Amino acid sequence: MRLAVLVLLALIVFLQLRASGFGRHLSDDREVEVVVVPSLPGQVGIPAAVTAKGPKTKGYLNGFRPVNESRVAIITFTTEQKSYLHMSLRNHQRYANKHGYDFIVDFDQHAERGLMWHKFEMVERLIDGGQHDWIWWMDFDTLITNMTMKLTDVIADAIKETPDPDAIDWIFTPDCWELNAGSFITRASPRAKPFINATIAYHEANATYEQQLSEQDCIRDVIRGGVFANHVKFVSQATINAFPKEIKCWDQEKRPWRKGMFAIHFAGAWAHLEGEDDATGLLMRQYIDDVVGDDDP
Ligand SMILES: *[C@@H]1O[C@H](CO)[C@@H](O)[C@H](O)[C@H]1NC(C)=O
Ligand SMILES: *[C@@H]1O[C@H](CO)[C@@H](O)[C@H](O)[C@H]1NC(C)=O
Ligand SMILES: *[C@@H]1O[C@H](CO)[C@@H](O)[C@H](O)[C@H]1NC(C)=O
Ligand SMILES: *[C@@H]1O[C@H](CO)[C@@H](O)[C@H](O)[C@H]1NC(C)=O
Repeated sequence: MRLAVLVLLALIVFLQLRASGFGRHLSDDREVEVVVVPSLPGQVGIPAAVTAKGPKTKGYLNGFRPVNESRVAIITFTTEQKSYLHMSLRNHQRYANKHGYDFIVDFDQHAERGLMWHKFEMVERLIDGGQHDWIWWMDFDTLITNMTMKLTDVIADAIKETPDPDAIDWIFTPDCWELNAGSFITRASPRAKPFINATIAYHEANATYEQQLSEQDCIRDVIRGGVFANHVKFVSQATINAFPKEIKCWDQEKRPWRKGMFAIHFAGAWAHLEGEDDATGLLMRQYIDDVVGDDDP
């Protein structure tokens, strides 16, 4: 008899806890408790994982806030002294400050697979940091040339015409080849990681001394494989990765950079300016004067 009462009491307590939401799993509507951290402009070189934590508020899963409210990080790295170091850093920092994005730069890299694979290590670090929703990878030889444009608008435009915008984790552009991995956007969600793993696995399995494969080659081949088709969106090169008239490697639209476009990339400038020792620096010094929307020129 006493046992029956105890069991009944336990059942009542259990049902009450259930009713109050105890033990419920993350719901599918993506409304969960998350730590929301205000953007910290000027966060150069500080890994997202060690920045301070903000107050707990009702939020969304990382990567799934409304795009116009997303927390954005622009990331790059450089491991050498260059004539255009300050120009490139200042340009990206000013843009980030203007929109409340983070700008994160690494000055060392240790990717055992080779220099450019470090971009994936940065992307993974920021995903693990959990403080951003979208990450814009930009090679160091780039400038943001229309600072009025919001990256979040560019992302919203890119994904809105896909069958399932929430499925898109990667936004790439072509150049005169299938893919240029010098400027791409990633959703800062753990869901983006299997694509990185697949790219690394592809390299592991297929690169040899005779057949060197860059990270760009491997990304291209993984996309070709089609497994991630629902998660990848291509936008035109001019959207986030325009090449100047001097670098004649444009996508099918054949639109060289012109004033007012979002960003310029001096990809492989050395190959296009014959006999010039500092081709990228030369071009960057030329184009920096055509940046628009810089509040502090
Ligand atoms: C984002 O868009 C939503 C829906 O269009 C709107 O209600 C909200 O105010 C916007 N947020 C910002 C920060 O503009
Ligand atoms: C990716 O690879 C790493 C290292 O091998 C592994 O720890 C991790 O579980 C993998 N992640 C996914 C999502 O496959
Ligand atoms: C290696 O390349 C082949 C041919 O492109 C591809 O089918 C295979 O999946 C690749 N291996 C891995 C582990 O990605
Ligand atoms: C820069 O971008 C803004 C926002 O998209 C646009 O309104 C403006 O026309 C652009 N500037 C130029 C010079 O094209």
